[in-house]
Amino acid sequence: MSKIGIFDSGIGGLSVLKVIYEKFPNNIYLYIGDENYYPYGLKSKDEIIDRSEKLTNFLISKKVDLIIIACNTVSSIALDFLKKNYEIPIIGVIDGAVEKSIKITRNGLIGVISTPLTAKTHIYRDKILLKDSKVKVYEIGSQELVNIVENGIINNNPTYLIAKETLEKIKFVDTLILGCTHFPALRDLILKILPNVKIVDPAEEIVEYIRNYIDNKDKSILEFYTTGDIKSFKEKAKIFIEDLEIEVKKIVI
Ligand code: DGL
Repeated sequence: MSKIGIFDSGIGGLSVLKVIYEKFPNNIYLYIGDENYYPYGLKSKDEIIDRSEKLTNFLISKKVDLIIIACNTVSSIALDFLKKNYEIPIIGVIDGAVEKSIKITRNGLIGVISTPLTAKTHIYRDKILLKDSKVKVYEIGSQELVNIVENGIINNNPTYLIAKETLEKIKFVDTLILGCTHFPALRDLILKILPNVKIVDPAEEIVEYIRNYIDNKDKSILEFYTTGDIKSFKEKAKIFIEDLEIEVKKIVI
C-alpha cells in the first residue's frame, strides 16, 4: 500500500484524485485543497513556487511516498523546481495530456483551456510543438470558468454563455485539452458547445505514469485537508466525489 499526496488550489484536483482512486483504490490518499490561497491562476510565479514548497513539505512531513500535483498551474510553473529540490517522486499533469492530444488530433488543431497563468507560460504549446512541429496550438486562459467550477455554479445560463463565448474563439480545433483540473466538471457543457471535439483530460493520462510507483494492496484510506473553510470544502467536493462521505481537517501552512 502506498501513501500518495495530492494537492491543488481548491477542489479541481479532486477530478484527478477521483480517476486515480478508481484505478488504484487500495492506497492511502492525502488530498490538500489550498483554498485559503485560491485562485492560483492569477498569482505570480514566486507565489506559486512558495505555495507548492509549503504543501510539498507538509505532505513529506506526513511521510507520503509520491506526490501528484493535481494542478496545471503548479505543474507548469513549479514542477521542475520541485523535482530538482526534493528526492521524492513528484508527478505533474501536463506531459500525459500533451502526448494524448498529438496522438488523437486529425486536423492538427489543438485547443487548450486553462488558467490565465498556465496560458501565459505557453507550456502546452511549447511541449506539443517540441514533439510535433506541424500541429497548431491555441491556448485560452479563463479564470472566470475556473471560478464557476470552484463556486459550484455549473448548470445555469450565464455559465453556458461564458463557456460559449470562450470556446467559440477556438471552435475549429478537433482536440481540446482541459488544461485546468477544475474543467472536467464542465465536460458536458463543453460538448454541448463543441459536440465533435475530442476532449483530453490530463487526469486520465497520468494513470500510466503513476502505475510504477503504486503498490495497490490491502485497503484504502482517504484524508482531506484544506487551508480554507471545512464546511465549504465538503460542500464543493461533491462536484467531483459525491459518493464519498469525507472527513476534512483544517491546516494552516
Ligand atoms: N485547478 C488549477 C489548475 O489546474 C488551478 C485553479 C486556480 O486556482 O486558479 O490550474
